[in-house]
Amino acid sequence: MISENQNLKPFNTFSISVNARHFSTFASVEELQSALSQFPSEELLILGGGSNVLFTQDFNGLVLRNEIKGFEVVEETADHVIVKAGAGEVWHEFVLHCINLGFAGLENLSLIPGSVGASPMQNIGAYGVEIKDVFHSLDAYHIETGEIHSFDAKSCEFGYRESVFKRKFKGQYVIISVEFKLSKNPAINTSYGAIESELTKMGISNPTIKDISNAVIAIRSSKLPNPKEIGNAGSFFKNPVVDQAVVDAILVNHPDAPNYPAEPGKRKLAAGWLIEQAGWKGKTLDNYGVHKLQALVLVNYGGATGQQIWDLSGAIIASIEEKFGVTLEREVNIL
Ligand code: FAD
Ligand code: EPU
Repeated sequence: MISENQNLKPFNTFSISVNARHFSTFASVEELQSALSQFPSEELLILGGGSNVLFTQDFNGLVLRNEIKGFEVVEETADHVIVKAGAGEVWHEFVLHCINLGFAGLENLSLIPGSVGASPMQNIGAYGVEIKDVFHSLDAYHIETGEIHSFDAKSCEFGYRESVFKRKFKGQYVIISVEFKLSKNPAINTSYGAIESELTKMGISNPTIKDISNAVIAIRSSKLPNPKEIGNAGSFFKNPVVDQAVVDAILVNHPDAPNYPAEPGKRKLAAGWLIEQAGWKGKTLDNYGVHKLQALVLVNYGGATGQQIWDLSGAIIASIEEKFGVTLEREVNIL
């Protein structure tokens, strides 16, 4: 059923109160087609868990929330499986289900909010793994023709928080299911330092994939705000990838500045560190601000508008440009 002037506060983790002109959920391709056919000329927004969006104004169009469910093992050999999940499945529940079945590869991506269908949009990543590492393929509904198109990893053009769906195919497809190739003989990935130290704290020397998942959950819970308590959309900015020379210049005065390998000639800087150095960490303006434990996360303590969060992000960008000569790019989808 399509509702009119639906408040979207319960449907975005920033808890921003805006209205959608029309709103519905869909649990199948048929329901999607039916909703689309009623408002063919309206602007369209597909929503999953709403955990990577910032609404700066009312949405004067049709918002459709994906609730396509389903889980299936589509291929199994002695050492791997290919699992297929409906795009409307909750990501973390899907990850836990795979872990319980002994299928490895997603454990480092535990506790990321949102839906399975949004995971390829920005090639979600955490703790040394991105979905491109385990992605097999996806099916997507082409809005203009009504055809279902399949994409393999190459055609998704995954990058750091990037895919073809954020770039040249932006707004053209609705992802309806995603397949992942997972391992039955896990190669545990503890390359991200914090995982090793968390496992040591837990007294575990020979971790299972469940242990890795628990360690990741513990680390994340210790510094990222729970959107059920404080409105946020995770990292608001990407970690900037810059020329080696830019890093070298920062290291002169800040020899401890965190930086990581990126493509040849480039390094990735930690945006959270830059923002903290510029004095923003924990800053509160009225009822919103910069999280006190993770400066990369902007927060709504209740009742803030998207415009206020947007303006704050602009002030942070200007300040980092001035202090470090580095331009931060917003990671969150702005609407
Ligand atoms: P939404 O916010 O609903 O949508 C995001 C974008 O994808 C929108 O443009 C939307 O139109 C589009 N979209 C959604 N579903 C579909 C679909 N089926 N078909 C086509 N387009 C679609 N991200 C990380 O990568 N790593 C992290 O570690 C991480 N940590 C987070 C921690 C917190 C506390 C929070 C709140 C967010 C975090 N995020 C992280 C960001 C977020 O969880 C991911 O981007 C997630 O994939 C968003 O899923 P969603 O279903 O909520 O997407
Ligand atoms: N740091 C600070 N101050 C801060 C925050 C971070 O100095 O306030 C420093 C840390 O001490 C560390 C470095 O920055 O040296 C990196 O911090 P952290 O490990 O917390 O990760 P991040 O780079 O801030 C990225 C992702 C997260 C992901 C984590 C773990 C981006 C934009 N963010 O954060 O993803 O969960 O790594 O892998 O790449 C998201 O995309 O929404 C998200 C939460």
